[in-house]
Amino acid sequence: MKISNVDVKDLKAKYGTPLYIYDQAHLRSNILGFKNYFKSNSFKTEVIYASKAFCIKEMLRLLMEYDMSLDVVSQGELYTALSVGFNPSNIYYHGNNKSINELEYALNHNIGYIVVDNLMELETLEELCNNLNKNVNILIRLNVGVEAHTHKFIVTAHVDSKFGVLYNSSDYNQMMDILSKSSKVRFKGFHSHIGSQIFDLNAFTAAVEKLVGICKDFNEPLVLDIGGGFGVRYTDEDKPIPFNIVSETLIKTCEDALNQNGVKIEKLCIEPGRSIVAEAGYTLYTIGYIKKTPNKQYYFIDGGMTDNIRPALYQAQYACDIVGKENEFKKNVVTIAGKCCESGDLIIENCPLPDAEKGDLLITYTTGAYGYSMSSNYNKALTPAVVFVEDGHDKLVCKRQTYDELLEREI
Ligand code: LLP
Repeated sequence: MKISNVDVKDLKAKYGTPLYIYDQAHLRSNILGFKNYFKSNSFKTEVIYASKAFCIKEMLRLLMEYDMSLDVVSQGELYTALSVGFNPSNIYYHGNNKSINELEYALNHNIGYIVVDNLMELETLEELCNNLNKNVNILIRLNVGVEAHTHKFIVTAHVDSKFGVLYNSSDYNQMMDILSKSSKVRFKGFHSHIGSQIFDLNAFTAAVEKLVGICKDFNEPLVLDIGGGFGVRYTDEDKPIPFNIVSETLIKTCEDALNQNGVKIEKLCIEPGRSIVAEAGYTLYTIGYIKKTPNKQYYFIDGGMTDNIRPALYQAQYACDIVGKENEFKKNVVTIAGKCCESGDLIIENCPLPDAEKGDLLITYTTGAYGYSMSSNYNKALTPAVVFVEDGHDKLVCKRQTYDELLEREI
C-alpha cells in the first residue's frame, strides 16, 4: 500500500509503529478547498484552522504557506504557533477559562483576536488591558442555541453549554455595557461554534441567520465567526458535504440574510479543524497476537486508546485494512484491540478483515484529527512518531517519544 507514492512498509522499517502518517498533498488540497471556495463579493472572508485537531509545528508551517489563520485554545497551542513565526495578528484565541497569565501572554504578543467566552473573562481582560496599557480586539462567543445532531459530548451550543453567553441574557447585556465604555477592549463581533462532525448544513445556516439578525443591534459592520464542525468520512456511513458546497451555501446564506436584514458585515470566518486534517491522516500499527474467545476474534495492535481515544470516548467508528491484503476476501469479523490495560481499549469492533498473521501491518483511516492531539501516555505508552509523505518522499515531523523523555520531568 502506498500513500502519496510512499510504501507504508518502508515507513514501518524506517520509523516503526504505531505511526501517524499524513498525506501532505491531501492536506494542501483540503486547505485550498476552503481557501478557494469560501469567498464573497459582499464581505471579506477568512479561513481559520482549528489547531486543536492537530497542532504540530510542521502543520502550522504548512498553513503559513497558504496564509491561513489559526484558532488556538490554550497557551500551549499559541506557544507552538509563535515558535514557528505564525503571524500573531492571524491568531484567534479561544477558551472558556483563560488564566490571567494566558491572557497576559496573548496581549504581550499582540494576537489578532481574543474570543471572550464569559462576563468574568471580559472583566479580567479589561482590567489587564488597563494595567498593561494594551489594546485588544475581541469577539464575543455567543451561544446561539442551535443544536447540531452529533454525539452529545461534541455538541457545544445548547442553552446550558459551558461555552459562550446567550444573546440578550443579563451577562450578555453587562458585557455590552462594559464594552461600550472600554477604550482598550475593542468589540469587533461574534463567534459561535455549534458542534462537530455535522453533516446537516441547516444547522450552520440557522446559526448564520441568527448571528446576522443580531448585527442589526450595531452600527458598525461586525466580524462573524461561525466556527468549525464540518463532517468528514470515517466510514462508508458518513457522507460529507464537499467544501465547495459547504462554502457556497454558507456564503449565500449570509449574503441573503444581510440583504433581508439591511445590514453589512466586515468579515465572515469559518474554523475548520477536522475537515482539513482528518482524512489526510492514517495510523499504522503492527499486529501482535491474535486471539479467539467463544464469540469473538481479536487482532491485537501495538497502539490503541493512547494514540486514538475517540472510539473509547465517543464510540467513534473507523475503517481499516491489513496492509497488502486490502483486496483479500474479508471473511472474519474481528475486534481490533489496543494494548492498554483497559477493556474499552477497542479501536474497531465487528470489523470485516481477512486472516492476519503476527507481524502484519494494520492501517486505520481518517485518524488525522483529534488522534495525535488527544494522545496520552496512559500505561506509560510512548507518543508515536508523525511522518508527512508527499510525491514519493517522507519527512519525519515529530519523533517518537523515548523512555528517557517519558521520565524527564519526574523527580
Ligand atoms: N472552533 C471552535 C471554537 C471549536 O470549539 C472547535 C472544536 C472547532 C472550531 C473545530 O471543530 P472541527 O472542525 O474540528 O469539528 N475531540 C472531539 C472534537 C472536539 C471539538 C471541539 N471544538 C473529537 O475528537 O471529535
